[in-house]
Amino acid sequence: MAQVKVTDHAGEMAGEFASNAEESVGVQAQDAGVPVMFGCGSGACGTCRATVTKGMEHLDAEAIDEAQIETAENEVLTCLCAVKPEAPADAEIELALENL
Ligand code: FES
Repeated sequence: MAQVKVTDHAGEMAGEFASNAEESVGVQAQDAGVPVMFGCGSGACGTCRATVTKGMEHLDAEAIDEAQIETAENEVLTCLCAVKPEAPADAEIELALENL
């Protein structure tokens, strides 16, 4: 399980949770009480967009489904991305969410 930290639009810590490869990072964040906003939930609206400030190499941006919109190289759609199954147990991922 990778450790995921989420910061809000002001750069304040919004939450931290252990994330597995089974579900999207966004769903697991919500389950952990981090209020990541979703719109479509299917990679089409960009509401859940996050900037990855650490650990991009441990994320599969399209683990759940194919994105229908463009993202920058350092961005993911949290409704679609998940931790890679091969990520080490001590992997650290940091996400900055403008919509939070
Ligand atoms: S919720 Fe719409 S792209 Fe993720």
